[in-house]
Amino acid sequence: MNIKNKRVLSGIQPSGLLHLGNYFGMIEKMKEFQDSSELFCFVANYHSLTTVNNKSNLRDFTNDLFINLISLGIDPNKSTVWIQSDVPEVTELSWILSNFSSVGLMQRSTAYKDKISKGFRPMMGLFSYPILMAADILSFNADIVPVGEDQKQHIEMTRDIALKFNNSFGEVFNLPEPLIDEEKSLVPGTDHQKMSKSYNNIISIFDKEEIIKEQVYSIVTDSAGLNEKKNINSPLFKIYSLFLNVEEIKELKNRYETPGLKYMEIKQELYERILEYFSEFRNLKSELSSKPDDIEDLKKIGKNKAQKIALEVLEKVKSATGLI
Ligand code: ADP
Ligand code: TRP
Repeated sequence: MNIKNKRVLSGIQPSGLLHLGNYFGMIEKMKEFQDSSELFCFVANYHSLTTVNNKSNLRDFTNDLFINLISLGIDPNKSTVWIQSDVPEVTELSWILSNFSSVGLMQRSTAYKDKISKGFRPMMGLFSYPILMAADILSFNADIVPVGEDQKQHIEMTRDIALKFNNSFGEVFNLPEPLIDEEKSLVPGTDHQKMSKSYNNIISIFDKEEIIKEQVYSIVTDSAGLNEKKNINSPLFKIYSLFLNVEEIKELKNRYETPGLKYMEIKQELYERILEYFSEFRNLKSELSSKPDDIEDLKKIGKNKAQKIALEVLEKVKSATGLI
């Protein structure tokens, strides 16, 4: 996919601590686009409201995620970084789009079914989550949306909604495409499932060192004896590989295939790699966190940049539909 000069956009919910899956599945990809494309990245706090019903959690997670994104290298000078609720034009568009979004389409959402099966209450916000997500993307006429595999259906729904609108009113919206890194689209958790804050199997990025150590040491391994070959199709091997180049992965594979490897040693190495890899980002975060006024300024800059575009698109939509 040629991404030069394209508009790349993605959002992330402030509903918990950032983990390796978020970083390798999405944030790292976003950073690669900063120099060659127009990058848009936001904190999806309206989306989190569908599952987080605690005032201080939502407020603190939102602020923390904004700081985390910048600390991880999403540069507010090169890109547009903002908080979703600071740009209400998007929620206004969401209402308009709901008239082009069929109930049947929403009912097919696997994310919705998954949440309900986990005990979340069937509220309209959760049900129409994909419409707000479509508004996030279409408000900025994004070309490319880098996400993990689990979000692919939402991008397909966005295209479906945009097409329905365009069919009635002409080519107002661009049809976005998902960008999924096949290799890193499914970072495993400390168990065999996908790493996710809802599965209690994460390795976090900004937690205290001892917590990260605990998380790494809790990665499940099999009971292969010291003198047996080890299985590379396992979370420990896959997570460690995220931090290695091709040569190093080959080396690790050799070690796995040679009797004598101790999982504990691999875990300790991985823990050290993680700290080393994120150390610069962790330092940036403590530095930025000590300057709350600067953070507020960055939020305003992001809001203004994002709002200008969302407003232009909204006016085009209102004018196409007869609302103005
Ligand atoms: P979580 O599953 O922890 O709630 P989110 O839904 O907030 O994560 O995901 C934010 C972004 O990170 C999305 O683009 C999602 O696809 C990506 N992501 C989350 N978990 C993983 C994972 N285990 N592997 C790859 N990408 C992931
Ligand atoms: N639904 C996404 C997630 O849970 C977050 C999100 C909201 C998003 N709006 C978006 C991602 C728009 C990409 C584009 O991860």
